[in-house]
Amino acid sequence: MKKIILAYSGGLDTSCIVRWLTDRGWDVVCFVADLGQGLGKGENFARIKQRAIAAGASRVYIKDLKDEFVKDFVMSALKANAVYEGKYLLATALGRPLIAKYLVDIAHKEKATAIAHGCTGKGNDQVRIEVTANILDPKLEIIAPVRTWELKSREQEIDYAIKKKIPIDVSKKKPYSLDKNLWGVSIESGILEDPQNEPPEDCYQWTVSPQKAPNKATYAEITFEKGVPKKLDGKAYTGVKLIDKLNALGAKNAIGRVDCIENRLVGIKSREIYEAPAATILYTAHKELEALVLDKDLAHYKESRSGLYGELIYNGLWYSDMRIAIDKFIQQTQKRVTGIIKLKLYKGNCAVASRKSPYSLYKKRLATYSEGDKFDQKLAEGFIKIYGMPFKK
Ligand code: ARG
Repeated sequence: MKKIILAYSGGLDTSCIVRWLTDRGWDVVCFVADLGQGLGKGENFARIKQRAIAAGASRVYIKDLKDEFVKDFVMSALKANAVYEGKYLLATALGRPLIAKYLVDIAHKEKATAIAHGCTGKGNDQVRIEVTANILDPKLEIIAPVRTWELKSREQEIDYAIKKKIPIDVSKKKPYSLDKNLWGVSIESGILEDPQNEPPEDCYQWTVSPQKAPNKATYAEITFEKGVPKKLDGKAYTGVKLIDKLNALGAKNAIGRVDCIENRLVGIKSREIYEAPAATILYTAHKELEALVLDKDLAHYKESRSGLYGELIYNGLWYSDMRIAIDKFIQQTQKRVTGIIKLKLYKGNCAVASRKSPYSLYKKRLATYSEGDKFDQKLAEGFIKIYGMPFKK
């Protein structure tokens, strides 16, 4: 029997896909990636596994990829300050290549000839998964049932699940489409599809509104070593634990909400809401530390790469030589990004309160307007004469 590995979430789409594929003669092996979508609380993976088997899967792999996700993906994005269209911190986009990498690995282990996913034909995620698989193993067949099958609406999928006795726990109405991992949550569809509508409070999954946030500011002190956050308020944590803590702290203080109209890879504009409390806090702190330790040319050039790096991630090109080459440059820029940044979190605002680094290039004796000034102001006259010469008529 021909074997296929399906990226399985436990939701309605992928549960119907299990059955749809088995009905077409496939031996379906499900793969569930734990990228921290349960956010501290944890996800009920035992239940997801049961559901996959009940839908017809022959085997289910559940893999905790949180550490790998943070170490190899999230931290690279953070060091680069990678961002898409100035707003999106790329949680969903960063998760896809890792999921695809494991689909390919498991296909090899199981001697499967194909992989499958539940992405729609209108989104970016299909591209990210398939391009990654193309790079890692061009021989694998890829099946994306949602693009071609006969089930044209959520209601039809529910009827299919009931008819085929696939266990599901959904109502016919679901207000939003969500994608979550420890780096953020993406929220779309429903009432959000009209860009004139302000996002209703109930669309937010993690954060409270600024109005409901505490009236007193919370301080968070983050220690970085070579661009990687290592401590919160002086206490060392693993990357995953640190992000968990900052998500909780940020969510409580309404940090990390954004509302975007974004340009998808497939040529349409879409409206998406994001929540990324920990990511927002860490980006703010990381950028503040870089401002202190990077020299001007390097800082400016590096900043000009953040959007490009973000685009490569967004466009599904994580495993491209281009992304890897830029990453080498980024790594080189981080060797002195060590120090402590203290932030003040208050009603959706995340502002720097204090900065310190052994590699600080800020010299008070040069900057001061008070006593002890070591800047020789007489030299400025000659400097400006030569600097301004070409512009003098
Ligand atoms: N627009 C985001 C991206 O392309 C998120 C996609 C998934 N969003 C969702 N709500 N299911 O990365």
